Amino acid sequence: MKFAVIGHPISHSLSPVMHHANFRSLGLDDSYIALDIHPTHFHHIRDIIAEYELDGFNVTIPFKTEIMTYLDEVDDDAGEIGAVNTVKIVNGRWIGYNTDGTGFIESLPEMELDGLNVLLIGAGGASRAIAQAFKTYGAGITVANRTAERMADWPFAVTKIPLTEIDEYAKLADLLINTTPVGMSGFNACSLYDFKSVNPAAIVAEIIYTPSMTPFLLEAERRNLQTINGLGMFVNQGAQSFEIWTGLKADRHIMTKKVQQHL
Ligand code: ATR
Repeated sequence: MKFAVIGHPISHSLSPVMHHANFRSLGLDDSYIALDIHPTHFHHIRDIIAEYELDGFNVTIPFKTEIMTYLDEVDDDAGEIGAVNTVKIVNGRWIGYNTDGTGFIESLPEMELDGLNVLLIGAGGASRAIAQAFKTYGAGITVANRTAERMADWPFAVTKIPLTEIDEYAKLADLLINTTPVGMSGFNACSLYDFKSVNPAAIVAEIIYTPSMTPFLLEAERRNLQTINGLGMFVNQGAQSFEIWTGLKADRHIMTKKVQQHL
């Protein structure tokens, strides 16, 4: 079978090596390529993908929302999130899914999610995907964002707070997640929160995996909090995409090892 990831820019994506490691482990001769689509050409996406005769593809920045207008069908959860990172092609029909939030949840240590108090920093597409996945498990969700605009049109109910009021909510949070690009390689290197009044039993998570240690996680470790970086989410979202496309179980262990080698 043939797969790809589409995005712009895309040359640094580790998805092809990660998926090829899984194919080799399972004895498959499937292929997975990175396709850089210039945003001005995106309206040709159906023709471009048809040329490559793909069975499915991942979608990354900046096309996760725009892709939705080109789909024949959208899974309910992805529809609620308003973003798609996985497209399965069946007899020419494009079906959209989102494995970002479920991939994040799979990366957590075993814990009770029903009633968990989750505090998300950032209100973009990644935040919405994670919030939606937690909602289905009955978690309580608070979103802290720099600006109110981005939170205005959320498709489901969450507690919305300004980032400046995070202290009050961090005291009650079981899990704090940075979903913003702050701390990413090439982005500004500061922690968005100093964990001054955090619940001492809270887990602190990033969705960033390059670098594997961000200022946000370093600051949390300095406060003796348990931390999780974004590597698990990256591997699990890819593994879940593969499972949607093929119905086979992905080898997450091999995928993780391969990505770690390239970091
Ligand atoms: P994605 O789809 O990957 O989640 P996005 O939609 O661009 O990315 O959203 C980025 C999020 O990071 C937004 O919530 C953004 O805050 P604003 O809505 O106020 O723009 C947040 N963000 C980006 N840079 C930030 C910064 N320097 N400080 C605080 N929040 C930041």
